[in-house]
This record gives sequence, C-alpha cells and structure tokens, in this order.
Amino acid sequence: MTVGPIDRLEPVEAALSTETGTGIDMPTEQVEKANGLAADKGFHNLTFREGYIEDLPFGDASFDAVISNGVINLSAEKGQVFEEAERVLKPGGRLPLCDIVSEKQLPASIKTDADLWAACIGGAEQVDSYVSHVESAGFDLVDIDENTEYEFTSERAANACQKYGIKSITLSAAKR
Ligand SMILES: C[S@@+](CC[C@H](N)C(=O)[O-])C[C@H]1O[C@@H](n2cnc3c(N)ncnc32)[C@H](O)[C@@H]1O
Repeated sequence: MTVGPIDRLEPVEAALSTETGTGIDMPTEQVEKANGLAADKGFHNLTFREGYIEDLPFGDASFDAVISNGVINLSAEKGQVFEEAERVLKPGGRLPLCDIVSEKQLPASIKTDADLWAACIGGAEQVDSYVSHVESAGFDLVDIDENTEYEFTSERAANACQKYGIKSITLSAAKR
C-alpha cells in the first residue's frame, strides 16, 4: 500500500511495474492525479482510492509493505498513523518511508502556523519522538538515514530548518 500520490517515487518504479499496490490520499483531486500518473507510467497493478492515513480503509494484515513519502509529517496523529500501518501489514511486513523530522522540539509558534504546517515544517516531529511512535506501534527500526540533498526553498522555511534542524529522513522498519 502507498500513502500519497506517486510523482516523486522514481526509486520504486521498478517494483511498482510488477507488484500489485493500493494507494490512498484524502482529496478526490489527488486520488485522480495519482491514478492518472500510475496509468501514464504503466503501473497497471496500482490503484488509488480516497482515505485517511489515520484510518486506513483496509482490513488487518492486507499488505506486505506500506510505503510513504512526505505525508506523515502532515498528520497531527502520528502514533495513530503508525498503528494503522502496523494493523494493515502482514507479520514481518515492511515500512520504508521518507519524511520530514526535526532535531529539536518545535515551539508552538511554528507548530500552530498553518503555512509552515502546509510546507511540511510545522508538523515535523522531533526525531527521537518520531522513532518512538514507530516502535510503540509494533515495529523494529531497521535503518534511518538523513537525505542531505533535500532543501527547503523559501527563506522562512530555510531559517526554521537551520534553527531547529528540520531535515528529510529515510526510515525503514519491520513489523514485529
Ligand atoms: C507533500 S504531498 C506528498 C507527496 C507525494 N507522496 C510525493 O511523493 O510526491 C502530501 C500528500 O499527502 C496527502 N495527505 C495529507 N494528509 C493526509 C492524510 N491525513 N491522509 C491521507 N492523505 C493525506 C495530501 O493530500 C497530499 O497529496
């Protein structure tokens, strides 16, 4: 299962060409966009439908892997997101994801700023707490790496990133 559209998932294109997958996104427009991109790229085994990452519209133990790129930081209920991922995975299922986290706890002034939240900054969880949510949901952490080439473009975002160590990570975990 994939969470979010697929316009920046080149590294998994080979897998998507052969594997069967189901994706979700919230608004109809994004679901239509994702289905259009999947069709354009020839991912005929991949379909998207509407849903929330906090309340996945799938049964228990439905998938071998749950993947996500830049979406979980947008949720205010990250613990619930990882619990849902764990629920829909088969035993031993994999959770490879990319997301935005912070080295330092963000102040309320940033967390409550709608523009910074939409820019994937306001919802960036302090990395230790993020990993703790993953493990508490029933995963073993396999690997975590910083994506050093990732850059925020606006000056305001860049300033917040420097001050609080906001960064992109790739994380891999496995269901216990
Ligand atoms: C920053 S984009 C992700 C980019 C995309 N994964 C990619 O690789 O290009 C965030 C996406 O997550 C979706 N989204 C945000 N919060 C969500 C939620 N709670 N449940 C489902 N989808 C959500 C948004 O509609 C949007 O399409």
